[in-house]
Parts: sequence; C-alpha cells; structure tokens
Amino acid sequence: MAAYEWIDHTFDVVVVGAGGSGLRAALGAAQAGLKTACISKVFPTRSHTVAAQGGISASLGNMGEDDWRWHMFDTVKGSDWLGDQDSIEYLCRNAPAAVYELEHWGVPFSRTEEGKIYQRAFGGMTKNFGEGGPVQRTCAAADRTGHAILHTLYGQSLRHSTEFFIEYFALDLIMDEEGACRGVTAWKLDDGTLHRFRAQKVILATGGYGRAYFSATSAHTCTGDGNAMVLRAGLPLQDMEFVQFHPTGIYGAGCLITEGARGEGGYLTNSEGERFMERYAPSAKDLASRDVVSRSMTIEIREGRGVGANKDHIHLHLDHLDPAILHQRLPGISESARIFAGVDVTKEPIPVLPTVHYNMGGIPTNFHGEVLTKVGGDPDHVVPGLMAVGEAACVSVHGANRLGSNSLIDLVVFGRAAGLRCQETVEAGATQRELTAKDGELSTARLDQYRNANGSTPTAHMRLAMQRAMQENCAVFRTQDVMEEGVERIATVYGNISDVKVTDRSMIWNTDLMETLEFDNLISQAAVTVNGAVNRKESRGAHAREDFPDRDDAEWMKHTLAWFDLDTGKVNIDYRPVHEYTLSNDIEYIKPKARVY
Ligand code: SIN
Repeated sequence: MAAYEWIDHTFDVVVVGAGGSGLRAALGAAQAGLKTACISKVFPTRSHTVAAQGGISASLGNMGEDDWRWHMFDTVKGSDWLGDQDSIEYLCRNAPAAVYELEHWGVPFSRTEEGKIYQRAFGGMTKNFGEGGPVQRTCAAADRTGHAILHTLYGQSLRHSTEFFIEYFALDLIMDEEGACRGVTAWKLDDGTLHRFRAQKVILATGGYGRAYFSATSAHTCTGDGNAMVLRAGLPLQDMEFVQFHPTGIYGAGCLITEGARGEGGYLTNSEGERFMERYAPSAKDLASRDVVSRSMTIEIREGRGVGANKDHIHLHLDHLDPAILHQRLPGISESARIFAGVDVTKEPIPVLPTVHYNMGGIPTNFHGEVLTKVGGDPDHVVPGLMAVGEAACVSVHGANRLGSNSLIDLVVFGRAAGLRCQETVEAGATQRELTAKDGELSTARLDQYRNANGSTPTAHMRLAMQRAMQENCAVFRTQDVMEEGVERIATVYGNISDVKVTDRSMIWNTDLMETLEFDNLISQAAVTVNGAVNRKESRGAHAREDFPDRDDAEWMKHTLAWFDLDTGKVNIDYRPVHEYTLSNDIEYIKPKARVY
C-alpha cells in the first residue's frame, strides 16, 4: 500500500454535510461558542436542500386556524404509526418558532396580502385531527423554498464563524475501542491531501441515498455517505425498507414537480381523462399522502389506464390555473416542465411518474440528534461522540411515510436541537484524546484498494446493476419472490466488487475514484434496504406488500435495525420498540387506527 500522510485538525464539533440540517447544526454549535467545522463534498449552496421546492410545514395559522397538535396528528397518521411520538411532538410544537427564526434571518418567504408568510396546502395536512379537511400549513418561497433556506443558512453560518472545509469528501468515522466516535477522516478533492478531524462531537448531516435507485429526484451527490460510514463502524441503520416515491417526477427525466402544484389546485388524470384520485382517496383526493397517491398512479398504469404511447405514465394538469398564479407561485416547475418535458404548463398537462424521492430510514437518533444503537437489552444506547440530523437520521418522525414539507422542517428543528445538545454537552476547548497511527487506517486501506483497483468492470456498470435491481425489485409494490430476487441481485453486485475497474490513479480531482467510493457507500445501503424489505411481512406506509396487504401492529409496530457485514455482505436484523408516548401532557398518545384519506 502507498504511504499516506494525514493533516490533523482539532475542533469541538465537526459537522459533515452542508445542507439545511448540517448548516443549522453548525450554526447552533458555533453560536454556543464551540469551535465548529463543517465539511462538505460540494459547495454548501449546491447541497441537495437547494432542490426542495414546495415548502416547510409549521402550524402558523396564517391562512386559517391551525394547531401544532393537528400537525402532530397528521404526521403520526402519515407515518402509519411507525413514528416515535415524543420526537413528533418535538418537531411539530417547535416548528413555528423554527420558521420565524428563518424569517428573521432573511428567508424571502412569499407573502399574503397582509404581509404574513404565505402557506399552501400539501398532502395529508389537515385541520382538527383529520376531521376538518385540508389546511394550508406549508410555508413557501414560491417553489424555491429549499433554495431560499439554504442560501440564508449559509450566510448565517459564516456570520457565526463556522469554519468550512469545502470539497472535502468524508471517508470514515474515527471510532475508539470503547465504541465512541472521536472524529472523521476526509479526502480534499482539489489537492489530494488526506485529513483527520478530531472532535468531541461529529454530526452526520449527509442526506439520503436516493441514487441507489435508477430514477430519483435526488441529486447525483445523494449517496448516503454518512449512513455507509455508520455501517462500516459496525453500527446499525434503522427502517431502511421505507423508501418514498414522490408521485410527480417528470416522466423520463425524474426531476421533481412539487406537490405544491397539487396544493395550488393541480390534479392527476389517466388515459380516460378521469381524475382517478377521487376513487382512491375520496376525501383528500390529489392531496392524499404520497404513498397513497404513488400507489394509485401505479395501479392506474398497471390496469392499462396510463397515458402516452406506452401507457406508462400519468398526466398532471395545471393548465386550468390562472397563468399569473403559475408565474407567481410555481415559476420553477413551469421552467422544469418546459426544459425537461417540452411542456407549456399553461396549455398542456405534465407527464409524470412516481420517482424515488426520500429515505424515511437512516441513522437511529433521539430527538437531540444523538446516535443510538442497541446494546444488550438497551435499545436506546447513545453512541458517545456521534450525532446525526436531517435525511441521514431516523429520529423517527416520518416513520413509514413522510408527509410533504415535513422534511425541511425536520432539517431546521433537529439541526437546531443538535446545536443545543452540543451546547449542553460539549466543553469548549476541552482536551481530547491524541490520535494514533491506527486512527484512519480503515480509510487509507479502502482508498488505496479502490485507487488501485484493476478489475474488469467499470464502476458505472456496477452502479447501474445495483440501481436497476433496486428499481425493479424494491419498488412501489413489493412481493416476497421479487424482493428475494432483489436480495440476490444486490448480493451478486457486492460479491463482484473486487472486480471493479478504476482507471485514474491520481489523488487530485479523481472523480473515477470518488464515484467508486460513493458506489461502495451505496451498495451497503441497497443491501440493508432490500433485506429489511423482504424481512418485514406487512404493509405499512411506503412499504406496500401485495402478499401481506395489511398493517400488522401486533407483530410489526417496531423499528428495524440492520447491520451490514463488510466481509460477507450479509445483513443482520434486530428491532427497537416504537416510542408509544409523547413528550408532555399537552397531547395524549395518538392511538393507531385505520389510515384512510
Ligand atoms: C415537494 O415540493 O414536493 C418536495 C418537498 C418535500 O419533499 O417535502
């Protein structure tokens, strides 16, 4: 193996990832006087939060009555009762303050006539514990809400002296013999140097792993690097079988058309011109939750009522809406539809198809952002030194299915919570254990192995084999046979990884090597996803099994924990109980019931 040298850094807190949750956590830690670094493989304002369109949920009540308890009810119901109700209470009651904080920091929200933050309807968001019809709860900056939030948070992080390490690709966690996290390693892409960041807390804010699938609304950078680092550290991921398909990805291109389009009055039709959602969700119709709408669209296509020459997609209509409203509220998707589907939304419907959009599963945490694992009989054992936030984390507020616009609020509420937890638990400048020669060996071994990989299969071919298997064998509808085949296909790809071919041997801007490391990150997550899915013998939220069509609370109201064995590629599964309690007496535990929209 070539000799690699480390450049060492010491911080109180190191955040990996500069999307909404990472920036909010870094900002909080820096505000608390802690020496804080933020490492990102892309320039911060290019993080995937920039692509979030429709908005951020909070019961501000600007467009009619609202209550955080109603938001909590909707989120619990949306999660199909797999969400932890203590965390969901924390999310919903802290949401309004988090949005006002963003407003005061400068997020340019759209406005009502009276100058209040504009809020639109989104799927599954209702009044009066589901009894009062749709509520306008999703705060929007036109259809570029994530863009506005990300840019504001980056500015605020700089103001509070977060130190940024930009275009550094995080490689691995530095774990000690006691199982505590002591730091993280990274590769600086533009000059090839290697870095060890020692920290009292490492906060993973590395986003989802949508790119394990062939068609996703996620950026190509969404490879779940933090999740994979956790698996390599011998820790589990939680509820990875729950993968959200957004109903309206542009047919072919996969780009997102926001749910806000239906929130503003858009609707779906089949080849007969029928507004079919009226049959599947008589009350909420096109604003039912995403899992329900995606399944309904898939059934329409399967039963021969898809549109287009191949009858393989669905139409989304905005052409009945006032062009002035489209221009004001949905300018971004009007442009996307023109560029990627050749459609003028004021005149024609947009061709759409359910597309992978979000991972409900991730790194198990409590609502402070502390990473959890199961040790002996303790299912909530805190891993010292390690935290996670955002899509990388599974708090779990989204359970088996996330409601639209609950992601942006998750980023800022739990990013803030993580900053507060650092303030409570980290002493600025406290002495840290010295790094040893052993710290970072895992990273250099892995880097060197792939840098010199001389097999016969290019990374792109392996990645495609994985993405096709996930798309075909772990999709909207699932059965035992199809998923068992998926387990085999993913195991075969993992088994062939020693045959990977990397052509560029340099350390500087080696995108071939970086994509290989990202693929290596994705394949372990693909394995825990499909194994978790085949293991869960019920239907719940986004996990829809044709052979087990009902939710089974007696047997399956529990979180899946999945460990990945790097040597064998085998996935080991255990469980954690769902938290069936709230945080305060201000709301009672919301008991499971049938989920209809
Ligand atoms: C959308 O605008 O539909 C995406 C936002 C989200 O996933 O919450």
